[in-house]
Amino acid sequence: MQLRSVELDVTHLAEAADFLERVWRLLPAGRSGATQFFRGSGAHPHVLSIRQSNAPAVTAITLSGSKDEVDSVHARVRLSGAPHKDVARFDLPGEGSGFVVQGAEAQAYRFVADAATPAPIEAPDSPIQITHAVMNAVDVAACEKFAVEVLGFKVSDRTRMMTFVRCNRKHHCCAYAHADFSSLNHIAFEMQDLDAVMRGIGRMRDAGFEMIWGPGRHGPGNNVFGYFISPFGSVIEYTAEVSEVDENYRVGAPEDWKWPPGRIDHWGLSMKDVDKAHAAERTYRFPAALA
Ligand SMILES: [Fe+2]
Repeated sequence: MQLRSVELDVTHLAEAADFLERVWRLLPAGRSGATQFFRGSGAHPHVLSIRQSNAPAVTAITLSGSKDEVDSVHARVRLSGAPHKDVARFDLPGEGSGFVVQGAEAQAYRFVADAATPAPIEAPDSPIQITHAVMNAVDVAACEKFAVEVLGFKVSDRTRMMTFVRCNRKHHCCAYAHADFSSLNHIAFEMQDLDAVMRGIGRMRDAGFEMIWGPGRHGPGNNVFGYFISPFGSVIEYTAEVSEVDENYRVGAPEDWKWPPGRIDHWGLSMKDVDKAHAAERTYRFPAALA
């Protein structure tokens, strides 16, 4: 199973599309009605969609896998009684079939099997793919339980701030951050290497964007990062070097992930602009009902 894409409703589609292609360096992957698709340089048919709307929303976190993988999640979803809808053919690049299921705090998780996959593209300054989506949650334990028992994810680490879960060997594909509301916290775009992250940070600075956190290297996942607020209001991250773990990985607890005073990452070069980040992290909410 892999995290494939995040689907957003945005209020200024043309401005968002221009930024994503020209500055963030995603690659156009077609459109369908009011929805515009973007891919990375990797083999996913798309990694982000944006749809013109009156209000910002995160309409789905999309995962893809083999027919067997998606079927086994579907079987647990049916048993769980969670609201879900089967989809015979997705209106997405690469199409595919599967279902969408509503999580503990109305998160929409979409599972796609049998989608056509394009050949990777040589584009060293473009994101390869999305590597994690972090969600704010009121009840992190309930979201973790749903992710593990229904979606089949495994817990990698629990910190004071969030719980990290994985759906393959990558340290996390999703994480749930403690908050007093449910929303999209941020989307992380995986770059080729540390240099590509740093070039991306420079490109963003050239385009007039102020980094709200970074450059740095995280504790859990050990990935390098630079965080920004996109012109459409969501927090977006360039990242690379996410660690891979296996069955022997010891699940970390909050006491394993304590920083020395004045530090919140391994490098200690920058502090997070918490006020700006928190305001942006509230912007993208999940719709109350499945579309
Ligand atoms: Fe992240």
